[in-house]
Amino acid sequence: MKLTTSTLLSLATAALAAPNPTHTTPLKPRQASHGCPSAVTLDAKTNVFRQYTLHANNFYRSEVEAAAAQISDPTLAAKALKVADVGSFLWIDTIANIKRFEDNLVDVPCDHIFGAVVYNLPGRDCAAKASNGELRTGEINRYKYDYIDKIAEIIKKHSNVAFALVIEPDSLPNLVTNSDVQKCRDAAREYREGVAYALRTLNLPNVVMYIDAGHGGWLGWDSNLRPGAEELASVYRSAGSPSQVRGIATNVAGWNAWDLTPGEFSRASDAQWNQCQNEKTYVEVFGRYLRDAGMPNHAIVDTGRNGVQGLRKEWGNWCNINGAGFGQRFTTNTGSELCDAFVWVKPGGESDGTSDPSAERYDSFCGKEESFKPSPEAGQWNQAYFEMLLRNANPPF
Ligand code: GLC
Repeated sequence: MKLTTSTLLSLATAALAAPNPTHTTPLKPRQASHGCPSAVTLDAKTNVFRQYTLHANNFYRSEVEAAAAQISDPTLAAKALKVADVGSFLWIDTIANIKRFEDNLVDVPCDHIFGAVVYNLPGRDCAAKASNGELRTGEINRYKYDYIDKIAEIIKKHSNVAFALVIEPDSLPNLVTNSDVQKCRDAAREYREGVAYALRTLNLPNVVMYIDAGHGGWLGWDSNLRPGAEELASVYRSAGSPSQVRGIATNVAGWNAWDLTPGEFSRASDAQWNQCQNEKTYVEVFGRYLRDAGMPNHAIVDTGRNGVQGLRKEWGNWCNINGAGFGQRFTTNTGSELCDAFVWVKPGGESDGTSDPSAERYDSFCGKEESFKPSPEAGQWNQAYFEMLLRNANPPF
């Protein structure tokens, strides 16, 4: 890790602000950097983000520092470096990247929570092409034993660190609305089995989990609300209603505003069929359906790239939206009892998908008029896009 003054300061503060005050003498920074002095227990009936700050992980820090080094304008470069200090989630998007996850756990102060995205279901991204994963439908055992079990082992080994997990972006929402897509039909059984296995296996005392619930423009349609809540709740129940599930993650890698009124698409011809025109309303309305379906309904909302609105021609356009800006930084000050925190889940600067039409994982959504071009493969760094997000950040850096 890079020991900057601010890291040292935050380590020192961590030692003072440790939520588990079993020690009376102040910890030396080095000890504090290895999580808490004793095992962490999170109460998923409470908003744990009130107690723990979302950690700014070293992987995103190194991407951002490398990006800043490429910026010649010193003012912009200085702003870029500030992005490295923003808490965000690390995506465990392949079996190989489990190592990246473990390598990033060396410096989590006791008052921080490490955010990670579990994202590797067989037949991943079944309704699109850009983020198809390494496991094919039929490989559920590799998912369980080579992926989820390994992540669980690492989390158990780091029992003195707090973890927040986002479980499988887009997966259950795809089952609700894309059952006409053959790949989604084929993947459905393993999505449900895989998510349930993840929830059961990762149900550890130092973990809170949020199941991905798409966004207001997806499950927020009148006809999707109940089926959506029932889909999530039934997988939750089949996992044995795990105690560490806190609720849902919304707007992951998305673009929707939190409380813009009227919402961006509220004048669209079909707007009458969707009462969830912003994420705040979605969290509240969908939350009622979840509660009725018997599932915990608190939420975290991805505000990583929603700083600028009015860019999309259609609500469903999701790929590398041009003109976007970084959004709200981590805060628990959301103004909604159901929303625990605004968090950056998608690491801004990493691509949503390639704009190269000849690539195998080319998805035509990444070739839309409002999609930034050129863009590399999903997950790869896009320097120009990062600089754009930075320039357009709202609030600014
Ligand atoms: C996309 C990619 C994935 C990456 C994630 C975060 O979903 O498919 O590989 O980790 O975005 O950038």
